[in-house]
Amino acid sequence: MTIQWFPGHMTKARRQIEDKLKLIDVAIELLDARLPLSSRNPMIDDILRDKPRLIILNKSDLADPEMNRQWLAFFKGEGHAAHLVDASTGNGVKEIPDQVKLLLKEKIDKQIAKGMNPRAMRALIVGIPNVGKSTLINRMAGRNIAATGDRPGVTKGQQWIKTGGNLELLDTPGILWPKFEDQQVGYRLAITGAIREEILNVEDIAFYAVKYLLRDYGDRFRERYGIDKLPEDLENPDEIVTVMEEVGRKRGCLVSGGRVDLEKASRTLLHELRAGKLGRFTLEAPNTRG
Ligand code: G4P
Repeated sequence: MTIQWFPGHMTKARRQIEDKLKLIDVAIELLDARLPLSSRNPMIDDILRDKPRLIILNKSDLADPEMNRQWLAFFKGEGHAAHLVDASTGNGVKEIPDQVKLLLKEKIDKQIAKGMNPRAMRALIVGIPNVGKSTLINRMAGRNIAATGDRPGVTKGQQWIKTGGNLELLDTPGILWPKFEDQQVGYRLAITGAIREEILNVEDIAFYAVKYLLRDYGDRFRERYGIDKLPEDLENPDEIVTVMEEVGRKRGCLVSGGRVDLEKASRTLLHELRAGKLGRFTLEAPNTRG
């Protein structure tokens, strides 16, 4: 579900998370491994402050394995604990309590030194819509937790979910807004389906998808669509559109007169991309800003 974020929503979402921070030992920041920068809330450091944090790169099953490694190294290099997960199958999920324990080691050791039984570690999952917060919560809970509506301001009584490994999770995630300042961020989010096509033009979304795919996965793209000649200049929009038209012809997206129905071609391409037909892909590399 896509939220239209207005300043009031952002303030409310932020306050809700800040209230929950008081209850927890650790924040689990969920990002989409295919676009870890674009799926990151721009104010996250300011919101979480010095709360211990585990960064989870979710949907790692859809992302480029080599880029997954690079992103892990990047976040670790920035001093964060980071971990790869595929919440849809559960890959990487069972290691989460141990990762959290490592982060809280000092605190836990102190409790033990005082002769106390370490109390359950308490965590909150935070992230922008569609990064997989509910899927991960359900996976960690081992059952389906009732959906609360992916909207800021929708609240219900909070409950702690036992997840094993002495880790408890708040059943409602913290929902954050994505970055807006950079148009390309919006297109990257839309390529993965995190922003609905009604909000941005589908042909524009496909345009950027083709541009990124040709840049990083050109051979795969050429193979799938049987395209003979890839553009020489990816900065030339005409060359990208020519490739989109070729995809449309290959997929029979034509209107009368044999012209390509670019909108249909765009939808087909995005559908195939999201369905994994073009393989695993990552849309941004560490330190990519443009
Ligand atoms: P949210 O609470 O953060 O908004 O995200 P949610 O769990 O609803 O997940 C959004 C979509 O992403 C869901 O697809 C979910 O199955 C999928 N998803 C979550 N984690 C993973 C993962 O690690 N790998 C893969 N491959 N998919 C994941 P959906 O319900 O089918 O929604 P949609 O695809 O119809 O939009």
